Amino acid sequence: MYDELVFGQIDLEEQPPISEPDRQYYFIKKCRQYVTEFEHLNGRLPKACVVTFGCQMNARDSEKLAGILQQVGYELTEDENSDFVIFNTCTVRDNANQRVYGRLGELNGYKRRNPNMKIALCGCMMQEPEVIEKLKKSYSFVNLIFGTHNIFKFAELLCATFESEGMLIDIWKDTDKIVEDLPVERKYPFKSGINIMFGCNNFCSYCIVPYVRGRERSREPKDIIREIEKLVADGVVEVMLLGQNVNSYGKNLDEQVTFAELLREVEKIEGLKRIRFMTSHPKDLSDELIQVMKESKKICRHLHLPLQSGSTRILQQMNRRYTREQYLELVQRIREEIPDIAITTDIIVGFPGETPEDLEQTIDMVRQVKYDNAFTFIYSKRTGTPAASMENQVPETQVKEGFDRLLKVVQETAREQTARHQGKIMEALIEEVNESSPGLVTGRLSNNTIVHIPGDESLVGSLVQVSLDECHGFYYLGHMVNEMQPLVDNMKG
Ligand code: SAH
Ligand code: SF4
Ligand code: F3S
Repeated sequence: MYDELVFGQIDLEEQPPISEPDRQYYFIKKCRQYVTEFEHLNGRLPKACVVTFGCQMNARDSEKLAGILQQVGYELTEDENSDFVIFNTCTVRDNANQRVYGRLGELNGYKRRNPNMKIALCGCMMQEPEVIEKLKKSYSFVNLIFGTHNIFKFAELLCATFESEGMLIDIWKDTDKIVEDLPVERKYPFKSGINIMFGCNNFCSYCIVPYVRGRERSREPKDIIREIEKLVADGVVEVMLLGQNVNSYGKNLDEQVTFAELLREVEKIEGLKRIRFMTSHPKDLSDELIQVMKESKKICRHLHLPLQSGSTRILQQMNRRYTREQYLELVQRIREEIPDIAITTDIIVGFPGETPEDLEQTIDMVRQVKYDNAFTFIYSKRTGTPAASMENQVPETQVKEGFDRLLKVVQETAREQTARHQGKIMEALIEEVNESSPGLVTGRLSNNTIVHIPGDESLVGSLVQVSLDECHGFYYLGHMVNEMQPLVDNMKG
């Protein structure tokens, strides 16, 4: 990353550089002038708020947006009544979209009272032409709109909003570009997401992600390793490697690398304590990966393995490219090799043509696999996807009852799975002070289970041994145990 010395050498009298990321650093410096102007006029720094919808990938993108805003000189806040507000949107299900429109209405209210306020929209939803049409027509108070492929250009676009009036729109259809080394402002000092790849090539028939995120592109292993090394030097102990299908990592690189090989390299990084990743597509999960996980001291005992449906017929319609039996067999292999692993999943209910029998098969899978947790979604029709034009769309009212039944089984299983660890001593990474009871801090076990223990701020970011005293459904109440305690003590319960 650039330091202040390099910023000093950028000459704004000259034309902006063509190459990235230099070009963006030029515009960061240019934006700084506008921020200074603002400060002189208003006697305070401008405030900026980044709001994230959607998945971890979007959360990571938001950290990049925040990084730029901070470099430019904004004071970052969580208050949407700010001088600059950006919504990083998601469109995976329709309710994500509706939330954005609702919140935009509120922003308009703030903007009426603060006419200098700038509103920006970016992210997956912006890659849909219908959305842009609607925004142009009914949300003309928005200042800046860009998409997923040109997010690296944020500094340049931000600069343009200072220099123009009205609505600025810049959407790219696709890209093969990956821009490295832009500023990032992390939400947590001790853990971080890392993109290892972008886009998706799977085209599950219900899913809009491949259309809004483009084709699969992997980052070079050396860039990933370098980024993690820097993060570790900056205090990060846990990383989450991010991709829509991490199991196909490396396939488009000139020098092909498998995901398992990448993990082996990440494992070697000194000072890094924990490695997580998501998401794993069952069709591409290799034996090599299972082996690497088994042998690893750092890879967490958690695998998110989206099932989507337990019916082979529906899986085929979904273009998931595995059967119920293949999935079960895979889970069996994983559990044999790594018995203490927690498996979580995503399930869709109400896919076109789904019958009560299909749903029974899904419920049965939940019982058989014994998920530690499952995210259940009601199917949402996404324009342009193959499933949207399938016959037999199931009305949502018809889905509700089955959905609730599935949810009950998911919760039962999750409770049982979580309770397995009652009385054990395990390592937790303390993530935050508990908001509702400030005498407690909240930690996460390797298997992703949450534990609350007595403690204060000073523990945040540290790995501690905790005793899992009381299981409360999906989380534990526990206490920290001194690592020096005699073994007999550790075995109580
Ligand atoms: N790449 C990941 C998932 C990304 S989207 C994977 O393949 O598993 C996260 C989850 O949203 C999906 O696993 C799926 O369960 C859900 N989802 C995606 N499209 C959906 C739709 N149209 N309706 C309902 N749920 C959907
Ligand atoms: Fe969507 Fe399937 Fe790609 Fe996941 S793997 S992002 S569900 S198309
Ligand atoms: Fe949503 Fe885009 Fe993620 S559609 S789930 S934010 S990749």
